[in-house]
Amino acid sequence: MEAVVVAAALGLLLLAAAGSSAGDEAREAAAVRELLARLLGPGPAASFSVSVERALAAESGLDTYRLSGGGPGAQVRVIGSTGVAAAAGLHRYLRDFCGCHVAWSGSQLRLPQPLPAVPEELTEATPNRYRYYQNVCTQSYSFVWWDWARWEQEIDWMALNGINLALAWSGQEAIWQRVYLALGLTQTEIDEFFTGPAFLAWGRMGNLHTWSGPLPRSWHLKQLYLQHRILDRMRSFGMIPVLPAFAGHVPKALTRVFPQISVTQMGSWGHFNCSYSCSFLLAPEDPLFPIVGSLFLRELTKEFGTDHIYGADTFNEMQPPSSEPSYLAAATAAVYQAMITVDPDAVWLLQGWLFQHQPQFWGPAQVGAVLGAVPRGRLLVLDLFAESQPVYVRTASFLGQPFIWCMLHNFGGNHGLFGALESVNQGPAAARLFPNSTMAGTGMAPEGIGQNEVVYALMAELGWRKDPVADLGTWVTSFAARRYGVSQGDAEAAWRLLLRSVYNCSGEGCTGHNRSPLVRRPSLQMATTVWYNQSDVFEAWRLLLKATPTLASSPAFRYDLVDITRQAVQELVSLYYEEARTAYLNKELVSLMRAGGILAYELLPALDKVLASDSHFLLGSWLEQARGVAVSEAEALFYEQNSRYQLTLWGPEGNILDYANKQLAGLVADYYTPRWRLFMEMLVESLVQGIPFQQHQFDQNVFQLEQTFVLGTRRYPSQPQGDTVDLAKKLFLKYYPRWVAGSL
Ligand SMILES: *[C@@H]1O[C@H](CO)[C@@H](O)[C@H](O)[C@H]1NC(C)=O
Ligand SMILES: *[C@@H]1O[C@H](CO)[C@@H](O)[C@H](O)[C@H]1NC(C)=O
Ligand SMILES: *[C@@H]1O[C@H](CO)[C@@H](O)[C@H](O)[C@H]1NC(C)=O
Ligand SMILES: *[C@@H]1O[C@H](CO)[C@@H](O)[C@H](O)[C@H]1NC(C)=O
Repeated sequence: MEAVVVAAALGLLLLAAAGSSAGDEAREAAAVRELLARLLGPGPAASFSVSVERALAAESGLDTYRLSGGGPGAQVRVIGSTGVAAAAGLHRYLRDFCGCHVAWSGSQLRLPQPLPAVPEELTEATPNRYRYYQNVCTQSYSFVWWDWARWEQEIDWMALNGINLALAWSGQEAIWQRVYLALGLTQTEIDEFFTGPAFLAWGRMGNLHTWSGPLPRSWHLKQLYLQHRILDRMRSFGMIPVLPAFAGHVPKALTRVFPQISVTQMGSWGHFNCSYSCSFLLAPEDPLFPIVGSLFLRELTKEFGTDHIYGADTFNEMQPPSSEPSYLAAATAAVYQAMITVDPDAVWLLQGWLFQHQPQFWGPAQVGAVLGAVPRGRLLVLDLFAESQPVYVRTASFLGQPFIWCMLHNFGGNHGLFGALESVNQGPAAARLFPNSTMAGTGMAPEGIGQNEVVYALMAELGWRKDPVADLGTWVTSFAARRYGVSQGDAEAAWRLLLRSVYNCSGEGCTGHNRSPLVRRPSLQMATTVWYNQSDVFEAWRLLLKATPTLASSPAFRYDLVDITRQAVQELVSLYYEEARTAYLNKELVSLMRAGGILAYELLPALDKVLASDSHFLLGSWLEQARGVAVSEAEALFYEQNSRYQLTLWGPEGNILDYANKQLAGLVADYYTPRWRLFMEMLVESLVQGIPFQQHQFDQNVFQLEQTFVLGTRRYPSQPQGDTVDLAKKLFLKYYPRWVAGSL
């Protein structure tokens, strides 16, 4: 394609979101000042002067910040071309000049006095138009139960990390409900259609319906209220919220009201049967398509306003009914047409996940049909898993449509230490250099957050760098120093070991996550191989404990101590599982009982205790958040059950079993531990009685335990208990010598 066309496509995008006035500049600057006061307190915030001047970005049109001032008696001066750019500049100052760290797991914000001077005026422009954040699934795995206070924190985090494009998908079911009522559906039909809150992401993409619903009335009202606040705040920083649009999926009941419409029933999804999946897709040529699409978008934008970028995913993880390019082009064009009927400036944000998830279906003709059905510059594609399987390289940069290089990193919000930092570090710069690249931004698209924070710190930084970080070893060393607020040799050495092991997943052995047998339903066939040197994890554990006397007062350090202890236990569970399996296969009863006993009666209970000592690892807080959304006890029970399902069985029969597993105190004690105990008991029984172990029988029995947990109502502490350092040390003293001696 021609460079001119590429430039024109990107130019269109720039236009889609520009537009400014002196009022906007003042409003954005005020928003950043308020952020600053929330972050540092009103006193320290007064040492900064913040302003927003669009002119700063005049030449490039790209977000830019400028830092100056500081030193004795002088204010630090932060200018941004937008509120987001100013917030990113502020973060840069706090990070690189003050050694601060803004984190999910506990920020470190001790400011040097006086504030360090910026020796020479520092101006930085982002290399691309967009820094994107979120995955449709993040809304369910991480945000589902959030109140405004938690959202406010997250939007602050987004602004400080320079994110200027993010989904704002709360409250859309309330709008759909209005549309469906207007179209003649009954309330019962609508209730039967929506999924429960913990599964809305997949309802929105047409993968699921009905499962774990219906949505209470109060849910809609609360989400509408939240969405207004989210949008106001995002816009106040100059961020672009992405609203949803109609992708083609409709409730089956629409065929009752309009018996003549043409719909296709999709195949099943995620091991769900057609009571919960196999959604109905309105045919692109059906006259009702533009009507439903524009009714929704009109109602939505009437309620919320618009910034002209809309997300829609028609074929996410679902095979289209036909691979004919003409069909795929029509299905795509119909979605876009419905958008521009309501908003002539609409740009469609498409998750490119489908192309890499089913590459055998999406050949060049099929990909070309979708990408070519929307005018260039009006389709903005998220190359969602670009750190591992970039799609831009095999589609000639999405055939000239702009795309965002996204790091996906996490599936289901799992805790296992994992990262591909080298590949993340190199990826964006390489994509920019690709021939005729149409890269328009960088992004973070994790399915769940609140884990492996180091990976997100690097990716956020890359959004403002033209080149990769030169030396990740140096980078991670200063990351550790900032995180704990002091440079401590042992802690820094621990982080370098983690960098070269768990955080350097690459090549054939790289699995894309670090899920171990610990969080899986046991069987004799579980894989235990990992891509890294486990000794590095144990050494990092030793080094962090050694750093304890200096760092124990840092919340992020205590979080990391829990996390590394958790990871060491995860490794140990694999090792004792292997011991038990070998013993069983060799018919060595005593060894089986020893290994099984340690795993299920010592390690797991000890893990539960360590997790219980930190507020971030509590099932109790998780469930309390869910219950907190309710307006009655019946609703509280309903939300709690939604939450328990998501963490474990996922569907009524374990349809996507343990996909969104978490290592949380309470969940380890009452879900993972009982099933490991049952497994070991059945292995022992099999040896004693001389009858083969029946996996099928075990699966049936263990399902009863799993279901008992999901349907249970036991309350768990939502406040931490016990001392992390003592508990971690106790485990360390017992197991580290065994690991080093090579004798478990
Ligand atoms: C890039 O664009 C130029 C100019 O249109 C064209 O000649 C060239 O073949 C393109 N390169 C690739 C790799 O597509
Ligand atoms: C789907 O599975 C559920 C149980 O998970 C069952 O109650 C329902 O009858 C099944 N529906 C179909 C269509 O098979
Ligand atoms: C990560 O692994 C790659 C490939 O094995 C290697 O070249 C690189 O040096 C490693 N990086 C670190 C920080 O250990
Ligand atoms: C594995 O890690 C340990 C501890 O950091 C180290 O001593 C050892 O040399 C490593 N082994 C290999 C093969 O790299």
